[in-house]
Amino acid sequence: MRIKQLILALLLPVFAMAQDDKGEQHRPRIHFSPRKGWMNDPNGMVYLNGTYHLFFQHNPDSTVWGPMHWGHAVSKDLLHWKELPIALYPDSLGTIFSGSAVIDSNNTAGFGKNAMVAIYTNHNHQQEAAGTETFQNQSIAYSLDEGKHWTKYKGNPVLSNPGIRDFRDPKVSWYAAGKKWIMTLATRDHITFYSSTDLKHWKEESRFGKEEGAHGGVWECPDLFPLYDKGNEVWVLIVNINPGGPNGGSATQYFTGTFDGHTFKADHTTTKWLDYGPDEYAGVTWSNVRGRSIFLGWMSNWEYANVVPTGNWRSACTIARELKLVKTGGQYLVASVPVREYDKITGKVITAENVTTNHFPLHAQPGKLSLSFAKAASFSITLSNNQGEQMVIGYDRAKNEYFTDRRKSGDVGFAQGFGGRYTAPRFTIKPAMDLTLIIDDASVEVFADGGLSVMTSIFFPGKNYTDISISSEEKIAKVVFQAIK
Ligand code: FRU
Repeated sequence: MRIKQLILALLLPVFAMAQDDKGEQHRPRIHFSPRKGWMNDPNGMVYLNGTYHLFFQHNPDSTVWGPMHWGHAVSKDLLHWKELPIALYPDSLGTIFSGSAVIDSNNTAGFGKNAMVAIYTNHNHQQEAAGTETFQNQSIAYSLDEGKHWTKYKGNPVLSNPGIRDFRDPKVSWYAAGKKWIMTLATRDHITFYSSTDLKHWKEESRFGKEEGAHGGVWECPDLFPLYDKGNEVWVLIVNINPGGPNGGSATQYFTGTFDGHTFKADHTTTKWLDYGPDEYAGVTWSNVRGRSIFLGWMSNWEYANVVPTGNWRSACTIARELKLVKTGGQYLVASVPVREYDKITGKVITAENVTTNHFPLHAQPGKLSLSFAKAASFSITLSNNQGEQMVIGYDRAKNEYFTDRRKSGDVGFAQGFGGRYTAPRFTIKPAMDLTLIIDDASVEVFADGGLSVMTSIFFPGKNYTDISISSEEKIAKVVFQAIK
C-alpha cells in the first residue's frame, strides 16, 4: 500500500465517525425533525396565505423533555419544511405546553384582522412542585406578521384551572353556525367543551367521555371537526391517550358522532384508533384549511421517546395525512391517507405486475411503496441491510390483521419493549386489498385499505436499509416503488 493510500484508508473511518459525531444518523429526509434539541407534540398547526405553519413542543437546549417552548416550522407543500426561530418562550406563568392556533379573520379578539392567535397551556412547574393542583391554565398570544413575532396577552391566563390536575392542550375552532369559538380541552379522563366570542372569555358548555372510549391513561391533545359523507355531516372528536394505546404506550383514539355547538354525542360504543402503530401520538388537524382535514402527529411514543438513539435532536413528525370518512360494516371510520402532495414524485418509478415475489434496491432513498391485490392474501415486505437487520411489514390472512415487526430492525436495546411486533385489525369487508408505505431512513408508515388500518413504526438500523423484498401467497396485481425527493 502506498503511503498516500494508507493515509486515506486510515482517514476514511475517521471521517465516517466524524459524520456520526455530528449526530445526523437516522435523520429523516421526508419528515420534519428539529435541527437540534428535543421535540414532542405538533402544536398550533394553521394555514395562512399559502403557508402551512407547524409549531411544536420544543426543548432547544437538550435532547430530552424539559422546559417547553413552541418551536416553529413552515412549508408550502407539507413535504419540505423550513425551521424558523422559536415562537413562544416560557414566561412568568409557566412553560408553554400544547395547544392550537387560529386565524381571527373577524378580529373577534381585537388584536387585528387576520391575527394569528395561539391558545396554549401554561404549565407552572413551581406550583406543581409546591403541591397545588391548579398549575395548568390556558393562555393566548398573537402574531400580526404570520407567526414571526408574538405578543402574549396581558390578561393571561384566559381560562383558569378549576382544580383539575390535568387541564390542558386547548384546540380551538370557529363554530360558524353559532358564531362562536369552541375550545376542546383535555381534562384528565374526559373532555370539557368551552365557548367564547372573543377568545378571552370562556364559558363551559359540556363534558364528554368519562364513561366512553379507552381509559388506560390520561386524555391529552384533543381535536374536534366535521367530516362529510355524501353531504352527511359527522363530527369527529380526537382524543390522544397516554398510556393505554392498542399496542402499548401513547396513541390516538377518536369518536364519531354529533356536535350541536354545545354537546358532543358519540354514535358508537367501540373504541376507535386512528393509528395502531406504536409511533403516532398527539396528532391533530390543521386549522384554517378549506375543504380538507389534514392531520399530523408526533412520530414517537412516551414509552421510549427520551432515549431513542439519535444524536443532537430527538423525534420527528409523521407525514401529513388527509382524513376521510368511510362507512364500513354499518359504522363510520376515519381513514387516513398520505396527502396528495406526496404524489409529487421526482425520483425513479419501479413497477411490477402479477408477481408473488419481488425485490428491488432502495438505493438509500426514501419513497412510497404501493401494493394492490385483487383478493386479500398473506404477504410480507422486508426492508433490510447487509448487516442482517430487518423491518418486516405484512398481513396475516388467517388472523385478518396487518403487522409491523421490528424485533430485528437494528438497535432495539435502548428501551425495554422497543423491539416488538405490532398488529392492526383489517376493517374493510371488500375482498380487494391495497397498501401504501411511506419509507424514510428511520420510519415506515403503513396505510392499508385506503387508510382504514394505519400503523406507524420507527426503527434504528446500524446502517440504512438498502433492500426491499416482497413475498406473497397470492399474486400481487401491482407493485410500485416511487422515490420521494
Ligand atoms: C402530550 C403532552 C401534552 C402536553 C405536552 C407537554 O404528549 O403530554 O399533554 O401539553 O405533551 O410537552
